[in-house]
Amino acid sequence: MEQYVIKGGNPLVGEVEIGGAKNAALAILAASIMTDETVTIDNLPDVRDINVMLGAIRDIGAVVDRVDAHTVRINGSTINAMSVDYEYIKRIRASYYLLGALLGKYKKAEVALPGGCDIGSRPIDLHLKGFRALGAQVDIQHGLIAASAEHLQGTHVYLDKVSVGATINIMMAAAMAEGKTIIENAAKEPHVVDVANFLNSMGAGIRGAGTDVIRIVGVEKLHKTEYSIIPDQIEAGTFMFAAAATRGDVTVKNVIPKHLEATTAKLLEVGCEVEEFDDAVRVVCAKPMHHTQVTTLPYPGFPTDMQPQMSVILGIAEGTSTVTESIFENRFKYVDELTRMGANIKVESNIAIIAGVPKYTGARVSAPDLRAGAALVIAGLSAEGITIVDDIYYIERGYEHFEEKLASLGAQIEKVSSEKEIQKFTLKVS
Ligand code: EPZ
Repeated sequence: MEQYVIKGGNPLVGEVEIGGAKNAALAILAASIMTDETVTIDNLPDVRDINVMLGAIRDIGAVVDRVDAHTVRINGSTINAMSVDYEYIKRIRASYYLLGALLGKYKKAEVALPGGCDIGSRPIDLHLKGFRALGAQVDIQHGLIAASAEHLQGTHVYLDKVSVGATINIMMAAAMAEGKTIIENAAKEPHVVDVANFLNSMGAGIRGAGTDVIRIVGVEKLHKTEYSIIPDQIEAGTFMFAAAATRGDVTVKNVIPKHLEATTAKLLEVGCEVEEFDDAVRVVCAKPMHHTQVTTLPYPGFPTDMQPQMSVILGIAEGTSTVTESIFENRFKYVDELTRMGANIKVESNIAIIAGVPKYTGARVSAPDLRAGAALVIAGLSAEGITIVDDIYYIERGYEHFEEKLASLGAQIEKVSSEKEIQKFTLKVS
C-alpha cells in the first residue's frame, strides 16, 4: 500500500500546470462510443478513474488506442456487448454514463446498479426517470439496470434535483432520440457544457448547456471529431487552497478563471489575494486567514468537491467558521482525521463548526475519499512535523502526479510504500 509522507511548513511557491477535467473526461469517453467513426480526445487526465473507464469501453468491444498519456483514439464500430460489468461500476460509478451512451446509440443497455459510495448513498432515480420519459423500458433485476426501447422519443424532463450525472446521461440518450427533448432544472457545471460541446462537435443538436434548460434535437447519426477536454476546476482549486494553507504564492496555469469564481471568492473572503489572468490565477496568501461561512451548492455555487479543502483552510483561520454540505450526506468523514492533526471541528448534521487553531501538527491519517484525501495532504503541507497519509489510491483516482506537482512548488512530499522508506524520508528532512 502506498502512502504520502510529508514534512510540512514550506510555503508553496511557483507555477503549476492543471490537467484535463476528470469528470468531463469520464462522460466524454463514454459518449465517444456513440459514433462508428474514430474520435480523438486530447487533454485527458492520466488518472486511475479514466483508465478504468477506458477498460470498460474496451470490454464492450470498442477499439481504444492510447496515443499517449493525454490522448486517446476511440472507435465504437466494433462494439459487441451492451452490458457493462459490475467490476467497472464497483470501481467507478461514472461507468453508468455508458447506459445513456449505449441506450442512445443502440437503444439497449445493461449496467450494474451502483451501490452507495464513500460520500453518500447516491441514488440514480433521476437518470432512470429521464430514460423512461424518453420511452425506454427500464428494469432493475439481479443488481442490473436493463434499459431498452424500440425507439427513443424526444420528451420533456424535469429534474427534481439538480444532478450532474442525470443531466449528462439524459442528454446523451436524447442526442440520438427522435425529435426534441427539453431538460429542465439541468445542472450547469462546466463539465456538463463540455460534454454538450463534445457531442455537438460529433453532430448533435444540443443548445442551452450551462443554463437551467437544455434543448436537444435528436439526430440519427453522430460522426468523428477531435476534441480537447477543459481544465479541471477542482484540481486547480485544490492547488489554490494548498497555496493558501502554506502561506504561499502559486500561479495555477491552464485554467478557465470563470470556472473558479466560487473558489476565488472564498479565498478573497479569508484574506488571500487572487490575481486573474486569461488562463491562469495567482494566489498569494501572506497574512493570517480569517473565518467565513460556506455552503456547497450546484454550480455556480461553491463545489462540494472543494468542501474538505475549504475546511482545512478554515481549520487554521482565525475565528469560528461554518461549512454546510448540502449535496452529499457523508462528506465529513475526514473530520476525525483532521482532528488527529489538531483541528477543532464539531459536526452537527450537515454543518461543520470549525474553531480555527494556530496550526496543524503532523500525524498519521487515512484518506477517506478522493477530495478529502487531497485535503489531508494540504493539511500535512501546512502542519508542523511529519504527516503520513494512508490509502492514497483514492487521491490517485483524480489527481495526476499530485506529489510531483506539489514537490515542484517546494513541498517536501514523497510517495512511499514501506515503513523503511518513511524512516528514510524522515531522516532526510530532519
Ligand atoms: C458528480 O457526481 C461528480 N462525479 C462528483 O464528483 C461531484 O461531487 C458531484 O457531481 C456534484 O458536483 C462525476 O462527475 C463523475 P449529482 P454525480 O448527480 O453526478 C442527488 C469527485 O470527487 N441525486 O450531481 O453523481 C445526489 O444524491 C466526485 O470528483 C439524486 O437524488 O452527482 C446528490 O445529493 C465525487 N438522484 C445530488 O443529487 C439521482 O438520480 C447531486 O448529485 C442523481 C443524483
